[in-house]
Amino acid sequence: MSGKKSFLRNFWKEKKMVGAMSPSSPFLAKKMLKSIDFSAVRVIVELGPGTGVFTRRILEQLHPEGVLLVFELNDNFMELLQKEFTDPRVHLIHDSAEKIGEYLTKCGYSKADVVLSSLPLANFPVELKNRILQESHNVMTDNSLYVQFQYSLNAKKSIKGMFREVAITFTPANFPPAFVYTCKK
Ligand SMILES: C[S@@+](CC[C@H](N)C(=O)[O-])C[C@H]1O[C@@H](n2cnc3c(N)ncnc32)[C@H](O)[C@@H]1O
Repeated sequence: MSGKKSFLRNFWKEKKMVGAMSPSSPFLAKKMLKSIDFSAVRVIVELGPGTGVFTRRILEQLHPEGVLLVFELNDNFMELLQKEFTDPRVHLIHDSAEKIGEYLTKCGYSKADVVLSSLPLANFPVELKNRILQESHNVMTDNSLYVQFQYSLNAKKSIKGMFREVAITFTPANFPPAFVYTCKK
């Protein structure tokens, strides 16, 4: 099944968790990765990869000694990811994004240089949203980046409350158009 079909099918099954009817556009992917200095980063955490539109691009640029921890809760997406991403730098984690710290430790790391999130925070209960933002903040250093896209500014207050520096840009070339938050601890 193509990425687009799989997305739509999973959206109808689990609307709030999947949060979108189709994968993100190449324009949004470019914007999400724009601020990352791939020559300097080694540990990247991706939250909610879906069919892997951002994962693919991260791997094209990830340092040969870098690692990518990918958290995906949806069974069907995880199956697709397992088939495609056999690169030894990738750790596919079929568990919730709330557990970043636990899995980083299991993989032998304490901090992440980048946390890149596609999670539909606006659909989450407040406690879950705050736990994931807090967990992301906990694993960052002063130089790390937290990059998140959203279809609305609904989570702006929570994101601004968690991170010191928050820059917001808008990408009309996506369905739906999206806001990208780029944040520092
Ligand atoms: C809006 S989709 C984004 C997919 C993809 N990154 C893209 O941009 O096309 C959100 C993704 O987050 C996943 N997700 C939702 N809640 C999650 C959680 N607590 N932990 C990990 N993944 C989660 C969904 O299954 C879905 O794949």
